[in-house]
Amino acid sequence: MSSHHPAAVVVLAAGEGTRMRSGTPKVLHRIGGRSLLGHALAAARSLDPDHLVVVVRHEREAVAAHIAQLDPKAVVADQDEIKGTGRAVECGLAALTPAVTGTVVVTYGDVPLLTTQTLRALVAAHTGTGGAVTVLTAEVADPTGYGRVLRGEDGEIVGIVEHKDATPAERDVREINSGIYAFDGAFLAQALARVDTANVQGEKYLTDVLRLAREAGLAVTSVGTEDLWEVEGVNDRVQLAALGRELNRRLLEGWMRAGVTVVDPATTWVDVEVELAPEVTLLPGVQLHAATRVETGATIGPDTTLTDCRVDHGASVVRSHGSGAWIRAGATVGPFSYLRPGTDLGAGGKIGAFVETKNVTIGIGSKVPHLSYVGDATIGEGSNIGAATVFVNYDGVHKHHTTVGDQVRVGSDTMLVAPVTVGDGAYTAAGSVITEDVPPGAMAVARGRQRNVEGWVQRRRAGSAAAAAALAAQSAPAGRRTVAEDGAEVQGGVEVQGGVEVQGGAEVQGGVTGTDQPPPAAGATEGTAR
Ligand code: UD1
Ligand code: CA
Repeated sequence: MSSHHPAAVVVLAAGEGTRMRSGTPKVLHRIGGRSLLGHALAAARSLDPDHLVVVVRHEREAVAAHIAQLDPKAVVADQDEIKGTGRAVECGLAALTPAVTGTVVVTYGDVPLLTTQTLRALVAAHTGTGGAVTVLTAEVADPTGYGRVLRGEDGEIVGIVEHKDATPAERDVREINSGIYAFDGAFLAQALARVDTANVQGEKYLTDVLRLAREAGLAVTSVGTEDLWEVEGVNDRVQLAALGRELNRRLLEGWMRAGVTVVDPATTWVDVEVELAPEVTLLPGVQLHAATRVETGATIGPDTTLTDCRVDHGASVVRSHGSGAWIRAGATVGPFSYLRPGTDLGAGGKIGAFVETKNVTIGIGSKVPHLSYVGDATIGEGSNIGAATVFVNYDGVHKHHTTVGDQVRVGSDTMLVAPVTVGDGAYTAAGSVITEDVPPGAMAVARGRQRNVEGWVQRRRAGSAAAAAALAAQSAPAGRRTVAEDGAEVQGGVEVQGGVEVQGGAEVQGGVTGTDQPPPAAGATEGTAR
C-alpha cells in the first residue's frame, strides 16, 4: 500500500545545540556507535519515503558531509536566517520540486531512540484519519520546556502552546508535543506560508500549523506513546549518556531474548551494528563496536573490547583488545592480547598472553602463546612461535613481510628480521636473530656462543654475597650440588630463563644448557611444552 509510504520525511537538524558545549555538531555525537543523525536517518529511511530531506544550518558543512556519507540519496536543505521549526520544515519542503503532496513526516535529528514501529504507527493512524495533522504526544511527569497539547471540551486537539508562551493554567498540562508529526503535505506548505513569528521567541513555530488546521475545519489527531525514551531529544551530554545507556539496555535485551548470554548488562556495551548468534556468551566488561560479529558458542570477555572483529564458532577472547581481526572457529585469544587490523587467526589457533599482532595470517592450529609481536607476516599451519619472539617488520623506513611455513618451531626470543622466510618444518634456536631464509627442515642458529669464565665472581666480586654463595656451592657435599653446574641438566626439572617458566623439564629458550655443545634436541628450542 503506497499510502503507507510517506511522500517525504523531513528531518530537522539545523539547531545549534549550544548546551553540548562542543566543537562537534550536536547531531554528530554518537550513541551505540552511530551518530544521533544516523539514528534519525535510519528510522526515517525505514519508512521508505519518496524523499528524505534533512534541514541543516549550524555547522552546515560538517553535517552535510556526514549526511552524504550516511545516506547519499538524502536531500540536504538549508535553513535561512529565519528561526523556528516551522521555518525549518518550510525550507525542507522548498528543496523538493515539484512540491510534494501526500503524507509528510517530520522528525528531529537529535531524537535517537524513535523506532520504526512508532513512526509506522503514526503514519498508519494519519492515513486512516485522512486529516491534516497527526501528532505524536506523551504524558510526562515534568513537562517543563515542552510544547503543551491543548484539547477542547470533547478532547479534540485545538492547538499546541510552547512552554515560554503558555499561561500558568496551560503549563499544568502534562501532555506534551513530541515534535514528531505526520502532515498532509499540500496543507502543510500552504499553512507554513501563513505562520508568523509573533511569539515570545520570535520564531516561526511548526506547532502553529495545528491551530491553522483547526481553523480550517480540518482534523487534527494524535497518537500517544507510553515510551518516553523514544521521543526524548539530546540537548546536553548528560542526556547523551542517559540515552546511550538506554539504547544499550534495549539492544542487550533484544540479544538476550535472541539467545545470547549477557552476564552483566550494566558493564556490557554493544553498538547497533553488532551481530551476535545464539549461544554467544558475553562476560562482564565487554564492549563490541561497529560491525563486530560473533558466532554461536563463542565467549567474549571479561574485559574485552572488539571493533570490526569477527569471532567464529566456539572461539574465546579473554581480557583483550582487538580491531579489524578475524578469530576463526575454536581459536583462543588472551589474556592481554592486542589484535590490530588484518589479524586472521586460523581455526584452533592461539594468540596468547601479552601478544600484539597486526596484518598477519596465522594458519590452522598455529600458536603464538606468549609475549610476542607478530606484524606483517604469514604463518602456516601447526606452527609454534616461541615466547618473546619479535617479527621485526620495520627497517625505519619500510615495512617488510615474514613468511613462516607449516609445522615450524620458532625458538623463544627469536628476532625474525623481515623480509625473511622460515621453511616448512624448520626450527630456530632460541635467542637467534634470523636475517636469512631458513630452508625447510633446517635448524637456524644465529647467536653468540656461551662462554663461562670460571672463578670470575671470586676474583672480581670478592666478599660479595654472590661470592659467598659460589664458595658454599663449591664446598658442598657432592650429593647436594646441582647437576646443572656439571653441564648436564637442570635441577628439579623446572628451569626459569629470562623470566619465562617452563614445565615438565622441557627446557625453554636456551636450546643450549651451558656446555659448548651445539643446540641439541628439537624440543629444547620450543617456546613451551604447550
Ligand atoms: C519543539 C516544539 C515543542 C516540542 C519540542 C519537543 C516547536 C515550536 N516546538 O520545541 O512543541 O515539545 O520541540 O522536543 O516546534 N530546529 C531546526 N531549526 C530551527 C529550530 C529547531 O532545525 O530553527 C530543529 C532542532 O535542531 C531540533 C528540533 O528542530 O532538532 C527541535 O528544536 P528545539 O529548539 O529543540 O525545539 P523546541 O523549540 O524546544
Ligand atoms: Ca529540544
